[in-house]
Amino acid sequence: MIDYNYFMNENELKQRLEELKSQIREHNYRYHVLDSPIISDAEYDRLLQELREIERAHPEWVTPDSPTQRVGGAISERFEKVSHPGPILSLANAFDADGLRAWHERISKLDERVKGTSFVVEPKLDGLTVVLHYENGLFIRGATRGDGEVGEDITVNLKTLNTLPLSIPVTREGPSAPERLVVRGEAFINLDDFEKLNRQQEEKGEKIYQTPRNTAAGALRNLDPAVTAARPLRLFVYTIVDSSEARTDSQSGSLMLLADYGFPVSDIHIVCDSIEEVVEVCESWIGKRHDLPYEIDGMVVKINDLALADDLGVVGKDPRGAIAYKFPAETVTTTLLDIGVNVGRTGVLTPYAILAAVQIGGVTVQQATLHNFDFIAEKDIRIGDKVMVKRAGDVIPYVEGPVVEARTGSEEKFSPPALCPSCQEPVTPVPGEVALFCVNPACPAQLVRNVEHFVSRSTLDIVGLGIKIVEQLVNEGLVNNVADLYTLTLEDLLALEGFAQKKAENILESIEASKQQPLSRLIYALGIKGVGEVVSDQLAQEYRSLDRLQTVTREELESLEGIGPNIAQATVDWFSLPANQKVRNQLKSVGMWPAASKEQATGTTLEGKTFVITGTLESFTRDEAKDYIQNLGGKVTSSVSSKTDYLVAGENAGSKLQKAQDLGVEILDESALRALAERGGNG
Ligand code: IVH
Repeated sequence: MIDYNYFMNENELKQRLEELKSQIREHNYRYHVLDSPIISDAEYDRLLQELREIERAHPEWVTPDSPTQRVGGAISERFEKVSHPGPILSLANAFDADGLRAWHERISKLDERVKGTSFVVEPKLDGLTVVLHYENGLFIRGATRGDGEVGEDITVNLKTLNTLPLSIPVTREGPSAPERLVVRGEAFINLDDFEKLNRQQEEKGEKIYQTPRNTAAGALRNLDPAVTAARPLRLFVYTIVDSSEARTDSQSGSLMLLADYGFPVSDIHIVCDSIEEVVEVCESWIGKRHDLPYEIDGMVVKINDLALADDLGVVGKDPRGAIAYKFPAETVTTTLLDIGVNVGRTGVLTPYAILAAVQIGGVTVQQATLHNFDFIAEKDIRIGDKVMVKRAGDVIPYVEGPVVEARTGSEEKFSPPALCPSCQEPVTPVPGEVALFCVNPACPAQLVRNVEHFVSRSTLDIVGLGIKIVEQLVNEGLVNNVADLYTLTLEDLLALEGFAQKKAENILESIEASKQQPLSRLIYALGIKGVGEVVSDQLAQEYRSLDRLQTVTREELESLEGIGPNIAQATVDWFSLPANQKVRNQLKSVGMWPAASKEQATGTTLEGKTFVITGTLESFTRDEAKDYIQNLGGKVTSSVSSKTDYLVAGENAGSKLQKAQDLGVEILDESALRALAERGGNG
């Protein structure tokens, strides 16, 4: 509780609540929509916390547009249907310059005003249409497009999108909203957020998502809003579908107005005065599309004059006043020559397509991902099939599906392998996992991936050890586990193909330098399933050495915030495997044995207390124990006296233990020391 709230009367408190809501709304907008925050995350959290406190004391003051109400909607059984205020139209397509010109011709004949009108060209986002309803500035409902007449009510899910205004105006200067406002936009996922999401999934050993669009669709229509909130969904709005006040008569004016209300609006919208200019702009984006952080599959051309566009009317579900210019296909067909199987670091097997070489968007493609074995079965993809392959942005090309009509009968069905393609050991289905795994810890493919991970930049950063060299080391039998890196000699390396003195020396140097890396990086480098950077930091902070980490129980781990049963189990399992115990012993004996840095154990819980350390401790050397105590404010002396508060005694403690007992000094083992450090020596 912020102290001064305590002294406020109800009126003042209510006023403070309103002020907080408006400040938070504005900071949220600055951060998520404008991308230019003016306060730190910590300050923002403090404001939100203060608001939560007031709302907790006065639940009757909580309104649906409060920033605290973005997440926390209940899980639905199904979505309610909602009728749209008018048809949510689609767009006709043009596939090239002539298609655009033909459209222009057609509508020019229908209405002579077209000849003198301007156009707005916008990116065609590859996401999902959403329809957002506001009443007196409050977001009251959001829906999917559905069939264009009736959509699904996904209000609770949409509220989790940080860029969606819960109330308008978002900033103090912004215009207030008309009584009724319905807008249309597109929800989508940025390419790098998508790749990050998949890296996290892979680290957790969970399913890989197929495309940003499918993932966005799944997240928007998830019955649990907490799942939607956890996905990096974004939003751009582009049309005012309905408004009780017409405040603009052009599309470019609508975009400006929407931005002023506080909606996220793409900053790419180009006003063109002729159809030739439109053609030029559209074609220029073919090459520029991949510079954008999200996927677009074309440009949308709209007549700028809203009245004219309206007068032009509709053909079927397509308005005449707008057209989609589709980029040349980045989906091509080619022959699936074979299906290969990769073995990942965690032993997960993933299939990939081996293709007859084909050009997609200026790049030659010979391999593409097939996601997982279920996908092959679901799509009934057969070897020899003509398949559709798509490349989108930087996402690795993927197979969309077979062209069934092109089958000749010679195609062969594919069955997932029963043996690991690398070590030939039987593949084991892991209960609760979709993927297939090779669980042989000595599997060479996994070993290569493991070593690759161990030396990579985000882990121990051993420079000079690329995948090719790692493969050489593994194939030559020089490296059978990650710890073997530390016993490599100059002779070992010089005997390998392509190695000269300097290169070998550099590698040995950077292996040696890795011993200075912090404990958190070593933990991450071990490649324990689910233990990524964040969890590794946490484990390093908590346990401060591998000696200690290797003795913790599943229950202890699970009691830490953010560590669930799977990570806890995987960690305990990792340390209990004999092969890993060997790795651990080897690492320790070569001196690759960092302890968490001093800064990580600071505090004042042991202030004013004097300690003596004796005997052999389990997870600390005596120096480390000394650092540990000193970092927490305690004093360490060498001999026991009446001034000694505690004796920390390990195994084979001798005369000091006796003396302490004689003097009545409290005796601690390691866990008692840690407990004391946690609760403080005075309580
Ligand atoms: S305008 C009547 N503008 O493309 C107005 N649509 O192929 C029709 N889309 O269903 C929509 N970006 O989901 C419009 N800047 C944009 C768009 C856009 C993406 C989607 C929209 C629509 C589909 C039509």
